Formats: sequence, C-alpha cells, structure tokens
Amino acid sequence: MNASGLRIERLNRSAHEARFLEFAREFHEAGEEALDKIDLLLSDPEDYFDLADRFEHDRDLPEGLVPMSRFLFFDGDTLVGQSNLRRRLSPLLHRDGGHIGYAVRPTARRRGHASEILRQTLGEASQIGIARALLTVAATNLPSLRVVEQNGGVFDAETASHRDGAIMQRYWIETATGAAP
Ligand SMILES: CC(C)(COP(=O)(O)OP(=O)(O)OC[C@H]1O[C@@H](n2cnc3c(N)ncnc32)[C@H](O)[C@@H]1OP(=O)(O)O)[C@@H](O)C(=O)NCCC(=O)NCCS
Repeated sequence: MNASGLRIERLNRSAHEARFLEFAREFHEAGEEALDKIDLLLSDPEDYFDLADRFEHDRDLPEGLVPMSRFLFFDGDTLVGQSNLRRRLSPLLHRDGGHIGYAVRPTARRRGHASEILRQTLGEASQIGIARALLTVAATNLPSLRVVEQNGGVFDAETASHRDGAIMQRYWIETATGAAP
C-alpha cells in the first residue's frame, strides 16, 4: 500500500483521546514500550495530556527537558502512527534520542507508514527552523535504520545509550531535503 496519503494532526486531547488510548493499548497488549510515557497515558490520561500540553507550550518543564510536539498520523479514520519532535537538543538527546522519534502500531507495519511519518515530521522540523535533524537508532533496529536511510540520513557516529548502554547509530538529515516528496 502507498502510504503517501497519511494525514498529520498535532496531538489534541479533545479530538484524539479515545483513539490515542485505543492505539496505545495495542502497543501495551503486544508487550511494546515504544510509545513515550505509555504507562502514564494508560493509567492517568489526564496527567499525560497535561504533561503533553506543557511540552507543546514549553511551560513548567522538568529540569533538563526540552519542548516537544507530538503528532498523530491517520490513514482515513485509523490512527496508524505517532511521532515526537523535540524542538531543541539537550546533551542527553544529542547522545541518545535526537530530535525525532516515531512508532507505527503493530497491526499497521510494513506498509511504508514509518518512512512517510518521518518525512512529514522532517517537514514540521524544517518549518520551525531546524535545518538538520538528529536521529538516533538502535543498531539492531533494522526497520528504523531503513526508514532513516530512505529519508536521506547521513551516518555520523555510534554512541552508547544513556539508558541501557545499547549501541545507537546517529544520523543527520537535512530537513528541507529529507522532507521533499
Ligand atoms: C520501526 C517502525 C517505526 C517501522 O515501521 P513500519 O511502518 O513497519 O516501517 P516501513 O513500512 O516504513 O518500513 C521501513 C523499511 O523497513 C523494512 N522493514 C520493516 N519491518 C522490518 C523487519 N521486521 N525486518 C527488516 N526490515 C523491515 C521495510 O521493508 C522497509 O524497507 P523497504 O522500503 O526497503 O522495503 C516500527 O517497527 C515500530 O513502530 N517499531 C517500534 C518503535 C520504534 O522502533 N521506533 C523507532 C525508534 S528510532
């Protein structure tokens, strides 16, 4: 299936809560923790959306954390994926995390959605003045490495994750180029 028709929407509680919870449950049931703060989302949606709002508006953020936008991607009415765009880099993100993270729901994988999600998120980065986006991917995450390559990622270096020491590969993507159709 061609994924070029995905619709991007900025996360918004009133528009998205029910579909976002259903989406998150699918990750949880598959035993995946790929969604940032999934435990909080499933246990206390009110707190999750309050925190997401503070990240979106750069308000009362915990020490050392940076502003971040969250985007949802729809194929028709179906929520198929999500991305996070961190609007600047902290020293930790520079090593592990980078500007952009993304995930596709388990039942919608291998249809090209992730490549399209990264392409559109690079477009958002370009619009807010991020000329080069940093992506960090676990060296064992072959699908994600492929997604980064398909979007023009240029390998920079290997680092060790600050979380678990896993080997991470860092790539830079020119956002204007990467976002081109
Ligand atoms: C990584 C992830 C986003 C890929 O999503 P996806 O929509 O299935 O990816 P795509 O369909 O765009 O596929 C991208 C490429 O990876 C390949 N691929 C997908 N799954 C694969 C697998 N299990 N093994 C090897 N290659 C795979 C695809 O064939 C495609 O390459 P191609 O175009 O050369 O055929 C998805 O697996 C996911 O959400 N994983 C958990 C979260 C995660 O790891 N996020 C990335 C953090 S950096």
